[in-house]
Amino acid sequence: MKARCPNPAAVHVAVLAAGAGTRMKSALPKVLHTIAGKPMLSHVLDTAERLAPAAIHVVHGNGGDAVRAALGDRPGVRWVTQARQLGTGHALAQALRGIPDQARVLVLYGDVPLIRAETLAALLAAAGRGVALLTARLDDPVGYGRVLRDRSRRVRGIVEERDATTAQRKIREVNTGVLTAPAERLRNWLDKLDNHNASGEYYLTDIVALAVRARQRVVAVAAVDAEEVLGVNDRAQLARAERRFQRRQAESLMREGLGLVDPTRFDLRGRLSFGRDVFIDVGCVLEGEVELADGVQIGPHCVLRNVKLGAGTEVAAHTVLESATVAADCRIGPFARLRPGAVLAERVHVGNFVEIKNASLGEGAKANHLAYVGDATVGARVNVGAGVITCNYDGADKHRTIIGDDAFIGSDSQLIAPVTVGPRAYIAAGSTITCDAPADALTISRAREQKSYPGWKRPKKIR
Ligand code: UD1
Ligand code: CA
Repeated sequence: MKARCPNPAAVHVAVLAAGAGTRMKSALPKVLHTIAGKPMLSHVLDTAERLAPAAIHVVHGNGGDAVRAALGDRPGVRWVTQARQLGTGHALAQALRGIPDQARVLVLYGDVPLIRAETLAALLAAAGRGVALLTARLDDPVGYGRVLRDRSRRVRGIVEERDATTAQRKIREVNTGVLTAPAERLRNWLDKLDNHNASGEYYLTDIVALAVRARQRVVAVAAVDAEEVLGVNDRAQLARAERRFQRRQAESLMREGLGLVDPTRFDLRGRLSFGRDVFIDVGCVLEGEVELADGVQIGPHCVLRNVKLGAGTEVAAHTVLESATVAADCRIGPFARLRPGAVLAERVHVGNFVEIKNASLGEGAKANHLAYVGDATVGARVNVGAGVITCNYDGADKHRTIIGDDAFIGSDSQLIAPVTVGPRAYIAAGSTITCDAPADALTISRAREQKSYPGWKRPKKIR
């Protein structure tokens, strides 16, 4: 959905993302730190794209190549380098070089990731032909620039925390960083900036006082939701933004019918599509593309990454599923693990401490306890006993195990791949199967026959 924007063709978005992010104390550029598994900068760009602007100019510098590489190819995005980080005003000046005079500029910050397109559209509408800045009232304004107003409540300027007097620091109306102004004027004001302040930086925020002095209309629009404009400078703020994002996402999913026991204990880092009456218990993490058909039930503390689950399938507590495809009415877990390439047909049961990798299990097959099934094709209704292992790796190569329909693999058997077990074959418990086992037959291979010694005495402990 495109957000409404007065004259989108004329709007150029500038995203400031060149800062070092010192307060993160990280080797990763700040704007690449993620929210819901996606870099903060990607969130900002996705939002900017919803406004359908003429272009998006991303100012990058610190770890610039890493930032560009991580974001990949995005049509409509122009990368602008700020070689030295001399401040937000200097950063915007770099972007302005590629913006025509007649354009309207909308400034976004790479570290204000939760901003919504609707809010930006409202800001653009409020600006008219003048300057508009997005502000917020915060209970704890520490770290933000404060909005200065005169006696008649007109905006006079912005003072940064480091330059503010004690009285000014008490102001709770803060600058979110988001602002819009006509390009030509902005260029003019940016030329006039100096760096005579506590940080020795060219502050973009100083253009507000310049605009006021030039008798330009400056409006401050207060964000409806103060959390939306949260700036992320350190890891505590990153975590807060993450929670905020997750909450917003969970609420929208619940409105669409998703059953969540507790929206504050649900994390989706990707995309979830779901049918009717899907239910997810607490503490689950969903990543990538997850598809849950009608009636799927997910128990507590499960991890699902790029999986598709068929209707009526139930996943019990502490199960980890990755790149797996599961048909309808399966029972998985508790404590099961499906690894990439696991494909389960209808009504398959996979129980505790069972690991399945690059293997398909036919309709109604069961592996209920402590098994490893890797690089295998398992037929319908096969019973894989407790402790069964497909020995798929000889130290150099991987080999396949093929098990026919209705076969029974006794507990604690090892199937040394490549090996084939015929349909309806019965493998006795504890067998080490090195050759193909024929259909409809009992195959047994144990070290030696069982013997008993009547009257045998247990050894005694020597004192
Ligand atoms: C800035 C604002 C402050 C506002 C706050 C909101 C200024 C001077 N201050 O402060 O009024 O309350 O954001 O979150 O603008 N950047 C560059 N190049 C630079 C410096 C910064 O691209 O030379 C980028 C950063 O990567 C970041 C953004 O600009 O995405 C803001 O910079 P930051 O240093 O975080 O500013 P704040 O101190 O948070
Ligand atoms: Ca910041």
